[in-house]
Amino acid sequence: MMKIIAGNFKAHLTRSQVDTFTKGLDSFLTDIQMPLSQIQVDIFPSHTALLADNFTHFHIGAQNAYFAPSGGFTGEIGLLQIQEFGINRLIIGHSERRTLFGENQDFINKKFRFYAEAGFHIYYCIGEPLEVREKGESALKDYLSAQLSGIDTSYSKLIVAYEPIWAIGTGVSASLEQIESTHSMLSTLVRTPLLYGGSVKPSNAKEILSLPYVNGVLVGSASLDLQSFEEIIRASF
Ligand code: 13P
Repeated sequence: MMKIIAGNFKAHLTRSQVDTFTKGLDSFLTDIQMPLSQIQVDIFPSHTALLADNFTHFHIGAQNAYFAPSGGFTGEIGLLQIQEFGINRLIIGHSERRTLFGENQDFINKKFRFYAEAGFHIYYCIGEPLEVREKGESALKDYLSAQLSGIDTSYSKLIVAYEPIWAIGTGVSASLEQIESTHSMLSTLVRTPLLYGGSVKPSNAKEILSLPYVNGVLVGSASLDLQSFEEIIRASF
């Protein structure tokens, strides 16, 4: 079963750092000779560090984009700016976009529809705050289901990433039991590949990637250092 290993660089790493990173990653993936049918590696640099998506063993994606080809949307980038890099991967619904930038479900739906229409591979993120987790299974299911509302979960290029907010950037991932039970529940809601994200690192990647219903990981902090990201990739096989 193919594993997906993705790195979300957020607002870290400069263009020259990403340039060095991609050269190293490409040679690492060449050396390990993993067939593309067994592993998919995608990285999501910041907008100023986007590079042409023409590497042999991995793909470049965008962390965010506005739902228009181009236009008067200060601070955003549109489809045409992304396509110029040959990029056709996008993260939508990340908790940092939802909480820090006020993206609501309606806005997220518009992004999803526009980029699905454009044929993009969409990494669609969902995840609950701690107070919802503490209310129990049923509240958790309702919350995650609401974050999927309006999303065409039969879209063939959709990947769902479960990232509990309380595990993001904290250094403490959800427990294996929590990941397994949540992914098992999500597998009843969607038929897409399911990724886990939230403090994934070399020391826990293998156990997380071995869980049923976990098709890969979306890595933040631990993807910024090439050696650490490579160890996570190694943990997938
Ligand atoms: P961390 O791996 O730093 O917890 O971030 C996870 C994340 O938000 C990936 O999208």
